[in-house]
Amino acid sequence: MKASAIANSNIALTKYWGKRDSKLMLPNNGSISMTLDGLNTRTTVEFSPEYERDILIFNGKEISEGREYEETVAFMDIVREMAGIREKAKIATENNFPTAAGLASSASGYAALALAASKAAGLNLDKRELSILARRGSGSACRSIEGGFVEWKRGEKKDGSDSYAVQIAPKDHWDFRMLTTIVSTEEKKVKSRAGMAQTVKTCPYYKGWLETVQDDIDAVRQGILEKDFAKVGSVAEYNCLKMHATMITTKPPIIYWNPATMEIIHAVMAWREEGLESYFTIDAGPNVKVMCMEKDVQELKKRLEGLNGVKEVIVCRPGDEAKTTEEHLF
Ligand code: PMV
Repeated sequence: MKASAIANSNIALTKYWGKRDSKLMLPNNGSISMTLDGLNTRTTVEFSPEYERDILIFNGKEISEGREYEETVAFMDIVREMAGIREKAKIATENNFPTAAGLASSASGYAALALAASKAAGLNLDKRELSILARRGSGSACRSIEGGFVEWKRGEKKDGSDSYAVQIAPKDHWDFRMLTTIVSTEEKKVKSRAGMAQTVKTCPYYKGWLETVQDDIDAVRQGILEKDFAKVGSVAEYNCLKMHATMITTKPPIIYWNPATMEIIHAVMAWREEGLESYFTIDAGPNVKVMCMEKDVQELKKRLEGLNGVKEVIVCRPGDEAKTTEEHLF
């Protein structure tokens, strides 16, 4: 059977950094994100006895070996086991944003794959089950199953059955916006997976991260529900800085920022002093996402585009949940 799905990427407002179980992708801490309208992955999956091995086509190009291929096959094995089937699959996947733009594609990628592959395997999973499945591909992907503002609950159980994402508020809850500022199109040197494992192992300040992250989650959740922009923005920004502090003090150090990243950080802080209310957040890479309200989007976009090293600014609203589609890629 063939099935297709489309899922949006997401950006964490309070971050996930560190696992307690790397096989089941169970996090040490919960996180909150906004699903990003317009930055999406479309995926088609077909299981068939005709295929001798899994076939992966990414943005029109076949990938038949290497880390990406192996991780995809491992994920498909989980789906096959759940469905009790042995057939291999053809998987075609496309991002509507340039992959080279250094934006997180694993979140939208594994959310779309979880939905398309489970449907194609004849499974009819509910949102909780889909989120748990997507989590097995990439932790942050479990949040892209839902739309709007989303919380990934850390969970307590060893089997991960209580570690999944739920919606805090729908996409039209308020006019909160995210400006994705592209400063680098290079692939990052240290992947999140390896980076977080190294931080957990070697960073002396990781303990402080774990001790304070739940307060950030509670504050951001409350700020979203109360539509308190200053609360959400300031806590999200500080949470991002705390995560990067643990990255920088990992052995060997992981420094994702480049000079353009620093320029944007300083500019956003200076503009805020002047009264243009905005906050920044940064994931495992040099690109900066700037939070603001709709009324300030045009002014901020213009100012960000004027900074040295900024290649592109993409304006994102809160986006939709992952959905199936009849528009197949093959
Ligand atoms: O799910 P991964 O392996 O792509 O890790 C995501 C890590 C961060 O983007 C830095 C934080 C997050 O919560 O998305």
